[in-house]
Amino acid sequence: MTAMSTASSLYGLQDYVRDLEQVLDRRPALPVIVREASTAMKRLLASDRWLEDRCRQTCPDTYARHLLHRDRHNRFVVLALTWLPGQATPVHDHSCWGLMGLLENSLEEVHYERLDDGSRGDRAELRQGRSGMCAQGGVAWLLPPYEEIHRIGCVGSKPAISIHVYGRDLDAVNVFDPVTGKVSPMRIKYYSTECGKTPFVI
Ligand SMILES: [Fe+2]
Repeated sequence: MTAMSTASSLYGLQDYVRDLEQVLDRRPALPVIVREASTAMKRLLASDRWLEDRCRQTCPDTYARHLLHRDRHNRFVVLALTWLPGQATPVHDHSCWGLMGLLENSLEEVHYERLDDGSRGDRAELRQGRSGMCAQGGVAWLLPPYEEIHRIGCVGSKPAISIHVYGRDLDAVNVFDPVTGKVSPMRIKYYSTECGKTPFVI
């Protein structure tokens, strides 16, 4: 948390949404969207005071996805994800551009490269690619078609909070088993009033 921030200077969720709307209104190419959304995300990560307590709740069974904003034109969503040590996603894709910014503590991200041509919906050949820790204030990105399969995990000893932006309402993804090659479509939910706080799978 940035102790020097004042209420008048705090760059919060509504500021981020406004800036991202202005970027998308120009209809730029995906790499430009990712770059400019990342720049604005770093401003959002400078303080955590804008994030409401109800969106900081963790779930003992799995990490929790809190929906913060859904664009009225369905161009993007903003989420807060809360992680307890040991919680992690399976390997999954997104079929859209995306960002992850670390608001509190850190997460590990491992990318996967798809080696097959994608012609079979139920099978994929993956190779593990770049990986690293994303620390507080850092931003990682997803850019289809080649940079959008990954897994994320809270591998440290402290709970983490990450802010995610996706270029669509991410209500379904493909989950990959990198060992067997099996691909499984999966519906995903939010840990919020709209799903009655029912834990989700991913
Ligand atoms: Fe993801």
